[in-house]
Amino acid sequence: MSTRALKHDMGWRLKELHERHGKIVRVSRNAVSLVDPSVIGEIYRYGGHYAKTSFYTYFKAQTPSLMSTLDNHAHALIRRAESPAYTMTLLVDLEEHVDSCLDDLVDYFDRTIAEGKGKATVDMGTMMQLLAMDVVGELAFGQTFGLCKAGKDTHGFLPMLEAFIDQCALCGTQPWAGPALIRYVNWKVGAQGPQALAEKTSKAVQTRLEQLQRAKETGDEPRRDMLSKLIAAKNPNGTPYSKSQIEVAATSILGAGSDTTAITMRALLGYLMKHKDIYDQVMHEIDEAFATGALSLPVTYADGTKLPFFQACLKETLRLHPAVPWTLPRVVPKEGAVLAGHYFAAGTEVSMSPFVFHRRAEAYGADAETFRPARWLEASEEERKVLERHLITFGSGSRVCIGKNISLMEITKVVPTLLHKYRFAPTPRGRPDSPHKLPGRAVDGTWSDDEPWHVKSQWFAAQHDFWVDVEEREVE
Ligand code: HEM
Repeated sequence: MSTRALKHDMGWRLKELHERHGKIVRVSRNAVSLVDPSVIGEIYRYGGHYAKTSFYTYFKAQTPSLMSTLDNHAHALIRRAESPAYTMTLLVDLEEHVDSCLDDLVDYFDRTIAEGKGKATVDMGTMMQLLAMDVVGELAFGQTFGLCKAGKDTHGFLPMLEAFIDQCALCGTQPWAGPALIRYVNWKVGAQGPQALAEKTSKAVQTRLEQLQRAKETGDEPRRDMLSKLIAAKNPNGTPYSKSQIEVAATSILGAGSDTTAITMRALLGYLMKHKDIYDQVMHEIDEAFATGALSLPVTYADGTKLPFFQACLKETLRLHPAVPWTLPRVVPKEGAVLAGHYFAAGTEVSMSPFVFHRRAEAYGADAETFRPARWLEASEEERKVLERHLITFGSGSRVCIGKNISLMEITKVVPTLLHKYRFAPTPRGRPDSPHKLPGRAVDGTWSDDEPWHVKSQWFAAQHDFWVDVEEREVE
């Protein structure tokens, strides 16, 4: 696993191993990867006894976080305390903050297109990430980081997050080398990024605490966002969350919520550009919705969910390009377990990879490898339940992604807005002015000049070097 982490080819190498050896593959001395549908409900189930493995230890900060806590009981207490920051009721309040970041992105595109006299070649990979980070800034840090406005990563967050993820994957697979690897990563990115982030987080929390105090005195309505909910969070003994607990929770949102959402938005745009007929179908649906008034700017989450074909494309993207292709490992509890027809002793590490599983015939049929959004629309009620159950992009059960709805809300607002306003086409690699620096590589490891990006498959399946030609569409 460490070699795969270093070579950034985890997803497709594991897939090859399953194709060769079947449903159960030993990935290290004490760890197996499984691809059996029956396993999902067992190892990830609510109230189950499969704890996270020590792989997650290196996701931790100064206090335990949702993502890094291994023990299920300790995790349930944190999840209960922090869940008010992720409710559907709060989601409505969060929308306006997403809108303001999206406005900055649209301004950036308009400026860049105007400079290019009607056309621009945009680093779409970076812009999607800057947007996702600005949104996290608004939701969890009290204000945007201003990255889309600047059109660049003015805080040095991108290399820092990339290095952090490298570090988690390497330390997680080789815990004995953890301290040395952390020193190496810190040397590689410099202290600047993590320090800047720590300072930003601390300042954001302090500013909000002061605002809340002032609001109490003046009777003003305080701003409602994830940060306000984290500040109001309480420990099981009733004590309020400490400043450092709030900071850890906010920083985790940056780590867990920005790359993942950016990867999904890129993948969705990429799949549409690759499949011209499907792109046309989505545009037909969006144009008609604007024409009838079913959609207007800013696109609301409620309206965006009423675009069935767009939503099917999003589901299909989440299926074929899960942001986290890694194996989501758990420990077999003390009583041992029978999984996929085999007995595993207590302490064995068992896992499923969303990337590998979603491409298996037993999960999605003989055309599992094909981008075919219609599968979500053609299915009967019963069949759709099965398709949904097999979709483990956000994990499953008690440790399922708590930010799923926030992410879906963001994507459902951002992507239709961009598709409505602009026409996108991948920048051809062979063009003399092509800005590409890396060879094209698909999410399944295929090398091709037709690929719009270079995917590195590790904990995240991030697309690099994703350049897109953008033109304004003639719309009201
Ligand atoms: C497309 C976007 C996203 C994807 C694909 C994704 C994927 C995942 C996955 C696979 C897990 C489970 C990990 C495991 O079981 O080992 C997870 C957990 C988590 N995610 Fe997400 N995520 C996304 C967006 C977000 C966002 C936007 C946030 C925050 C606002 C977020 C916060 C978290 C947190 C805090 C956890 C830990 C939950 C727990 O253990 O209780 N994620 N995510």
